Amino acid sequence: MSATTSIHGMWSNRLAFILAAAGSAVGLGNVWRFPYTAGEYGGGAFVLVYLLCVAAIGIPIMMAEILLGRRGRQSPINTMRTLALAEGKTPAWSLLGWMGILAGFMILSFYSVIAGWTLAYVVRAAGGAFTGIDAAGSQALFAGLTGDGERLLAWHTIFMVLCVLVVARGVASGLEKAVKWMMPALFLLLLVMVVYGAQTGDLGAAVRYLFEPDFGKLGSHAGEAILSAMGQAFFSLSLGMGAIMIYGSYLKSDASIMHNTVIIALLDTVVAMFAGLAIFPIVFAHGLEPGSGPGLVFITLPIAFGEMPGGGFFGGLFFLLLVFAAWTSGISLLEPVVAWLVENRGFSRVRAAVLAGGAVWLLGIACLLSLNRWSGYTLFGKGVLDLFDYVTANILLPLGGILIAVFAGWVLPRRVTQEELGMRDGVGYRIWRFLVRYVSPVAVALVLLNALGLLRAFGLG
Ligand code: TRP
Repeated sequence: MSATTSIHGMWSNRLAFILAAAGSAVGLGNVWRFPYTAGEYGGGAFVLVYLLCVAAIGIPIMMAEILLGRRGRQSPINTMRTLALAEGKTPAWSLLGWMGILAGFMILSFYSVIAGWTLAYVVRAAGGAFTGIDAAGSQALFAGLTGDGERLLAWHTIFMVLCVLVVARGVASGLEKAVKWMMPALFLLLLVMVVYGAQTGDLGAAVRYLFEPDFGKLGSHAGEAILSAMGQAFFSLSLGMGAIMIYGSYLKSDASIMHNTVIIALLDTVVAMFAGLAIFPIVFAHGLEPGSGPGLVFITLPIAFGEMPGGGFFGGLFFLLLVFAAWTSGISLLEPVVAWLVENRGFSRVRAAVLAGGAVWLLGIACLLSLNRWSGYTLFGKGVLDLFDYVTANILLPLGGILIAVFAGWVLPRRVTQEELGMRDGVGYRIWRFLVRYVSPVAVALVLLNALGLLRAFGLG
């Protein structure tokens, strides 16, 4: 029999888990990354592929990740070792946990810099910087921030301190109460923004752009676009690095993994679609470029806020809620390594959080410098920040996802997964098992190989 509790603490109920996991999933990935990535690949066709990835790859892998975490009840590294040994398999499966730690460091280091932008924009909105601003003015305002290394460093530092503070306080006490009102509030404000966009912007154009798939637009970049849609699904659902695994390890044994997963994935997807419906009407109404990249949200929304009565207030509130969304995601990126430091190095939670947070903070400095002083140093045409983003979402997370799916689908016996999922051998279980054994790993592997140009090298493409 496996353990029924974690030494790190437990969620007090099912709702707390849903909110924490949704808090991890819903973040900058939905409101910042999704719209601009969809914009870069031309809209509808990308969105359709994204939704397919969430359904056929994301949901089964999220179920698998929660299952593994709850079965092992430790940090991803130790969970994988324990579960592998229990099946008489090599403890090298713990490498999955190590890869997750690496991915978590890389993601949080650039994530914190972007979260810093949202912090800066709270202050700007509240200070009335958006009032009457036009497209050019908004673009200049954004460039003024990313070009200023010292300012970026200050905001990045504040965000990392916020993350360390919460993680240092432990699983249940601080976080659980915070997510309970932050998540509904974010949702409500996003609705306000959608309504506003519909009234003042070009909603029709936005809906056509997002939901009318034009596969011609993917053109010669189809492989790259599909890879990015899949990477976005992993990133947005927080899959493939152990964040959802460790959150699952704090979930009580009687909660249904399938029901919770579907709710979390739905929430995450709805927020991403709403973000698109809030942003693109403004983009089209103001003649902005949907494919303008990472600045998209920070350039479009201020224009809307600047025209709105009470825009300083709503703008400040919106970016503040974006800060909270990023915050509840940031802590989930730190938690796996902190749990490992506590388990294996005997550190106190506080010491572990400070140490891990400090390491991420240092790495983040390289990310923020790549936006200004180091903008000349690139690899494959990307600076450090873009490179970390690309490599983690499009390579490390999908690789982690394959390993999770293979372990849950092929290494763990049918009986174990049925017991942990609390499912009988019915239709639901069979669909999950089929997806996690065949569909997810094969689809992810094909997309990865194709993007790396390897299918062609093997004469298959
Ligand atoms: N899902 C979050 C977002 O969309 C980011 C995130 C949090 C994440 N934890 C993660 C991404 C773990 C990958 C892995 O903003």
